[in-house]
Amino acid sequence: MLLDIPPVLRLLDAIFESPHYSLRAGSGDFCLPGAVKYQPLHSDIRDWADDKTSPFSAFHDPRGQLSIRDLPCPYVCVNFLPQDVTSLNGPTRQIPGTQHSREPIPSLQEEPEWMRLSTVCPAPAGSIMLRDVRAWHGGTPNISDATRSIPNLEFYAPWFREPIVPGISYSDYKKLPERSQQLARFCCADSSEELITGTTLRAP
Ligand SMILES: [Fe+2]
Repeated sequence: MLLDIPPVLRLLDAIFESPHYSLRAGSGDFCLPGAVKYQPLHSDIRDWADDKTSPFSAFHDPRGQLSIRDLPCPYVCVNFLPQDVTSLNGPTRQIPGTQHSREPIPSLQEEPEWMRLSTVCPAPAGSIMLRDVRAWHGGTPNISDATRSIPNLEFYAPWFREPIVPGISYSDYKKLPERSQQLARFCCADSSEELITGTTLRAP
């Protein structure tokens, strides 16, 4: 259903200036009430690393001149906000313009107050938040009494790819509308494969 929302696809068409982008994954994150610490600022994509360090690395300039931060936007995350996001329930803080920055990302101790306060809120339930995942961002305290969850879809530019972990079984994939199948073409498990599913909980 999330793959079939016309305004989202119109925005992605405009960002990538092409309909040939592809789904990387459907995932997301959540912040429970009582999670009162700040998540350190981070980027959701790394600079190049060799295959032993990480399989999730695609762009490498052997001259050592360009990094992924010098490219046009390679990877967009569309977060869906199923509840109102306010200053109290753990809004994402997003630091404008940092998608191209080569500065080291500040630690929690180094982070200036204006960055801590650079939150994407208020946003009513039903909003979407599109991010260039290179830009610095992080979670903030949830001092409300409800969970803040932001499921997402992640898309690669037509010219960009990293290894993809299959996220949909072949039989479910075949039930999608044609445009959704096109978008999810690299995420589908082979018809002979059982989709491995499960939950990974990661400490902040
Ligand atoms: Fe992140």
